[in-house]
Amino acid sequence: MEKKRQIRNNRWVDVPMTNDVWHLLKEQRMSDTYYKRGDGQATRDLDWVEATHRNWVHEIIDLSEFPYCYFVNGTTDAIHHWLLTDDREYQHYQGEYEYPQMIRPGHEACVGYKDSVIDPDKVLYVSVPSGCDGNYFDLEDVDCPVILDCTYVSTTNIQRINPPKNTEQVFFSFSKGFGLVGQRLGLVYTKEPHKTLHTLKEFENWNYGGVKTIDLIMSNYSVDDMWNTHKDKQLELCDEYNLIPSDCFFLANSSDEYYKRRRRMKFNDSARLCLTPLTTW
Ligand SMILES: Cc1ncc(COP(=O)(O)O)c(C=O)c1O
Repeated sequence: MEKKRQIRNNRWVDVPMTNDVWHLLKEQRMSDTYYKRGDGQATRDLDWVEATHRNWVHEIIDLSEFPYCYFVNGTTDAIHHWLLTDDREYQHYQGEYEYPQMIRPGHEACVGYKDSVIDPDKVLYVSVPSGCDGNYFDLEDVDCPVILDCTYVSTTNIQRINPPKNTEQVFFSFSKGFGLVGQRLGLVYTKEPHKTLHTLKEFENWNYGGVKTIDLIMSNYSVDDMWNTHKDKQLELCDEYNLIPSDCFFLANSSDEYYKRRRRMKFNDSARLCLTPLTTW
């Protein structure tokens, strides 16, 4: 009962932390990236990480229409750089990751469960896999400008994400799959040079150590390794607590009234629950 209450009371997601990632991090020395800014070493590292990452995620998402890539301090930082350089109004689905709305309120696009009115003139900020429940879903028909947040990629199996044709930016993070939330690791892909990140990149102005950590993770794990390793535990816990497994291995959903306060979507009785307090991953 105590555990059930714990997952009901946990509004946020607790990212899984594992011993093997901890051991891996011990291999990285800060001195390895004590580079002179402007001499090209940091750019070489970032170019390598970009090429590796495009390949790392290619079975999930094709990034070939997004020629520009930037390091950011997690998706949160990507959201800052987007919102602070974009004056257009934006919209989002109900239950979506709340951070953009904390920086600048957007318009809610849902009018009912699986029933939404998308304004063709407003930018859509949307996460796939979804921050609402950790699940993949199809966005094909959307034709407004899109900011696509793929933060949950690396916590799921391989399924296809087809970015809508007017997708302008795609965000990735290493916080969720690997418990690296405090390291602030993210990548942004764009079709056009980014208004702020492009200038920073020209001056080799990013966190060089962060790029090395992304490299370390991708050299040791494939994009679906965490899901493969932990999905049995997820299924066991879902069985034990009578929950529906999310596509994200450390999340589950439930329509049980008991978890009502964790429902993120008014028109949907599904509550998003984080399994991390129930186990050690
Ligand atoms: C959909 C979504 N995007 C972004 C983030 C934040 O990611 P990061 O730690 O990379 O800033 C979260 C975290 O909860 C999230 O759920």
